[in-house]
Amino acid sequence: MEHQVIEKRIGLMGLLIIVVISFGGIAEIIPLFFQSEVIEPVAGLKPPAALALEGRDVYIREGCHVCHTQMVRPLRAETERYGHYSVAGESVYEHPFLWGSKRTGPDLARVGGRYSNEWHRLHLLNPRDLVPESNMPAFPWLAEAQLDGSQTAAKMRALRSVGVPYGDDEIGEAAEAVKGHTEMEALIAYLQSLGTALKSAR
Ligand code: HEC
Repeated sequence: MEHQVIEKRIGLMGLLIIVVISFGGIAEIIPLFFQSEVIEPVAGLKPPAALALEGRDVYIREGCHVCHTQMVRPLRAETERYGHYSVAGESVYEHPFLWGSKRTGPDLARVGGRYSNEWHRLHLLNPRDLVPESNMPAFPWLAEAQLDGSQTAAKMRALRSVGVPYGDDEIGEAAEAVKGHTEMEALIAYLQSLGTALKSAR
């Protein structure tokens, strides 16, 4: 084919440019599906336990991820502040992942174990009681809302169908593990679990 044919048809040329450029994308992206460090969980990674899983849903519902990322980038300023940078193997059980991109508040990828449960409770009831200059909203209703656990097992089964390794026992006991707890307790259990797998592996 004469090159002129392509040059005279801008639509065809645009299409061919996209095809050529996409090879670059393919060469970058496809290998990621097969690299073990990207698709295999880091040693010791466990999917969130029943209560923490409910807490994760509260986290999503309340929009915590709109102000908080869960992704420590490999930059000195970040690793000195938050700890080891996030690795892909920590996120393999995340559906959906909550890496985020907007940091109104600090990154939470490694917040697990940084504060006591009581600190989190007071902070969620009214952040300004602990951090006077905070502009994080208060979430007092979470302390009132009781969980009944009726959906927890179903959520775990759904996650298992996409590869999250929940055991039958864990699913069977899920409702009991959640019942009688408040959404606040579930959310705190979730926060305390964040980033701990890599911490304990090191
Ligand atoms: C409007 C933005 C905003 C939203 C929404 C928000 N936060 Fe925050 N958060 C902040 C800011 C700003 C700070 C820093 C000041 C402070 O500690 O209160 C913060 C701090 C925190 C901290 C302490 C982190 C650290 O390392 O010191 C935790 C934990 C936290 N938020 C959890 C949550 C949770 C859980 C939710 C959802 C229920 C939430 N935040 C919703 C803005 C937000």
